[in-house]
Amino acid sequence: MKTDKKLPKIALGAWAWGNDKTFGNELNTEDLKPIYDESIKIGLNLWDTAYAYGMGTSEKVLGEFLKTTPREDYIISTKFTPQCADNNSENPVTAMLENSMNLLNTDHIDIFWIHNTADAPKWTEKLALTAQEYAIGMLGVSNHNLEEIKEANEILQDNGLKLGAVQNHYSLLNRSSETSGILDYCKENDITFFSYMVLEQGALSGKYDTKHPFPEGSDRAAAYGDSLDKIGELNRVLGDVAVNHDVNIAQIPVAWAIAKGTLPIVGATKIHHVTDALKASQIELTGDEIELIEKTADDINLNTIRYWEKEMK
Ligand SMILES: NC(=O)c1ccc[n+]([C@@H]2O[C@H](COP(=O)([O-])OP(=O)(O)OC[C@H]3O[C@@H](n4cnc5c(N)ncnc54)[C@H](OP(=O)(O)O)[C@@H]3O)[C@@H](O)[C@H]2O)c1
Repeated sequence: MKTDKKLPKIALGAWAWGNDKTFGNELNTEDLKPIYDESIKIGLNLWDTAYAYGMGTSEKVLGEFLKTTPREDYIISTKFTPQCADNNSENPVTAMLENSMNLLNTDHIDIFWIHNTADAPKWTEKLALTAQEYAIGMLGVSNHNLEEIKEANEILQDNGLKLGAVQNHYSLLNRSSETSGILDYCKENDITFFSYMVLEQGALSGKYDTKHPFPEGSDRAAAYGDSLDKIGELNRVLGDVAVNHDVNIAQIPVAWAIAKGTLPIVGATKIHHVTDALKASQIELTGDEIELIEKTADDINLNTIRYWEKEMK
């Protein structure tokens, strides 16, 4: 139960394509198509989405674009979100997979996740049944702590399957998956760790500060708006490191996440986000640089746990 496709060093994320109020800017399909085209052209062919991202909106837009690419040339990752389950269906996990395949215009999903831990053991059992019915390249869990990850892996193993991937918030400002031993567990058990929000939804891109706030009314404005002063201290240091490598601030957190042995998922809403991501995958940070940016991040001591998350102990 492992996708035979080679995973790129970076995945691209399409949450913002769902046009919910998280990001605060309305994106239209015509603007997104060139981003998708560029990603495929340069080999960043792994896209992460979920039905929950705009209740099918993100998957639908992506699904139109996927039609233009041969099936073997892209890798698609989507999720079962317990809060969106159709509890009248025989197996809500299968129902959501089928709905996603339909929206994404594909007959198989490369990576399929349990999105969070609401009733997770029950849904993981159901996922095992789904995986016996449909060929799924890789099974994953998201927003799970170490104990919950182990439990999910045991359930899958009892069903002759294997946990292939974990997807958690992991950034310079939230290293709890590292300190709680999740990264080590993944390494020891041949599980790919996908880090989401390595840019803290743009807070670590250098684009936002007290004079240039996040879009008004967005979730990211609410989450980071009051901390832009503190975040600016980290961005200044990231800027110094970026100069050493002749890149932009936003590329350093991505390079850092790769250096830590993880596969970052970078949310892309502009063409340069995709080309920047590719260049970020070629940066080799020195040990001193990693130490400096981690220490600076630790010193500003911000809690970036979001409303759907919990402390990873
Ligand atoms: N499993 C889960 O519960 C979960 C939770 C969160 C995310 N995810 C996944 O992870 C993906 C990434 O997370 P995210 O999109 O929330 O946040 P993110 O990757 O931390 O930030 C993405 C935002 O950063 C900015 N950005 C990206 N590249 C940039 C560059 N090169 N230069 C300057 N700015 C840049 C863009 O915002 P602006 O240009 O608008 O400023 C973009 O929308 C999601 O799309 C989703 O697939 C999963």
